Amino acid sequence: MQNPEVFILAIESSCDDTAAAVLHNDKVLSNVVANQLIHNQYGGVVPELASRAHQQNIVPVIDAALRKANVQKEQLSAIAFTQGPGLMGSLLVGTSFSKSLSLALNIPLIAVNHMHAHILAHFIDEDGYDKPEFPFLALTISGGHTQIVKVNSFFDMEIIGETTDDAVGEAFDKSAKILGLPYPGGPLIDKYAKEGNPKAFPFTKPKVPGLDFSFSGLKTAILYFIQKNKQENPNFIDENLNDICASIQHTIIEILIDKLKLAVKETGITQIAIGGGVSANSGIRTRLQENKYGWKTFIPKFEYTTDNAAMIGIVGYQKYLSNRFETSAVVSKARIEF
Ligand code: KG4
Ligand code: ZN
Repeated sequence: MQNPEVFILAIESSCDDTAAAVLHNDKVLSNVVANQLIHNQYGGVVPELASRAHQQNIVPVIDAALRKANVQKEQLSAIAFTQGPGLMGSLLVGTSFSKSLSLALNIPLIAVNHMHAHILAHFIDEDGYDKPEFPFLALTISGGHTQIVKVNSFFDMEIIGETTDDAVGEAFDKSAKILGLPYPGGPLIDKYAKEGNPKAFPFTKPKVPGLDFSFSGLKTAILYFIQKNKQENPNFIDENLNDICASIQHTIIEILIDKLKLAVKETGITQIAIGGGVSANSGIRTRLQENKYGWKTFIPKFEYTTDNAAMIGIVGYQKYLSNRFETSAVVSKARIEF
């Protein structure tokens, strides 16, 4: 039987969002994220600035999460934190803080793999949200990750495909940069794509064997395509922005769908759960919800799909139930075994 009174404080600081959440069992009581806007002017995350901003944000963010949840520190059962993967300086802030607080409150410490958390976010209990059943396939797509994972149980998962170079979010953001759009450009490509023709400019899909992905060739192809057309017409981007964005987005979606089709064929699994910031993309959502291939797709609430601490908390809860705790000797890991 479930322990009915588990309160987890979860902390996420792997990249450029400082986040804290409080969970009561598998329900989220609060989910607070402080985005770091400082990076926008640099066109990407600057690691040193990210760790400094985590230092500034972590106390107010945790305080806000506890207050919003109306939970006192003394009520907490355990602290779950992101151990990795991520930027070392960023991870260190969350790890050190979690260790200190667990010592001060004398409660267990739980280390969470950020990638597992993106996948297990689907198990957050939400009214009206159907959870996937094991085994299922998870497609994690964000600015830092592109993976297809076969999920056999909460703690048994295997990566069956991943990117060999850029993540899919980077493919969106770098293409946007070529078009002169501000960072992060993914949401802007999505916005302009809605008004454009996805077949206007065909881009070649990369030929990568098996279930792995590659996006760097596409980025180069887009760069050359834009340079060439701008030579002929300096206003090429302005005059064709919607069609260019729709064509780029269409190509990226087809790359993802092709690999999912292959993964379904190889595993026989037709439940597909997507996560990560790129799953906000309206084209991907529409394509997956078309139900063209007889798949059952799961897309969590937006706040649980981008980097957040509620997803760390749900893994924390599952680990709490199976006594998977750490000592204060635990360390952050920029790269971590899956
Ligand atoms: O999960 P996330 O918030 O952070 C990590 O990278 O871990 O994902 C951010 C990424 C960025 O690359 C951003 O451009 C992309 O998700 N993104 C989108 C959309 N919304 C966010 N890409 C395409 N379409 C969107 N609507
Ligand atoms: Zn992430």
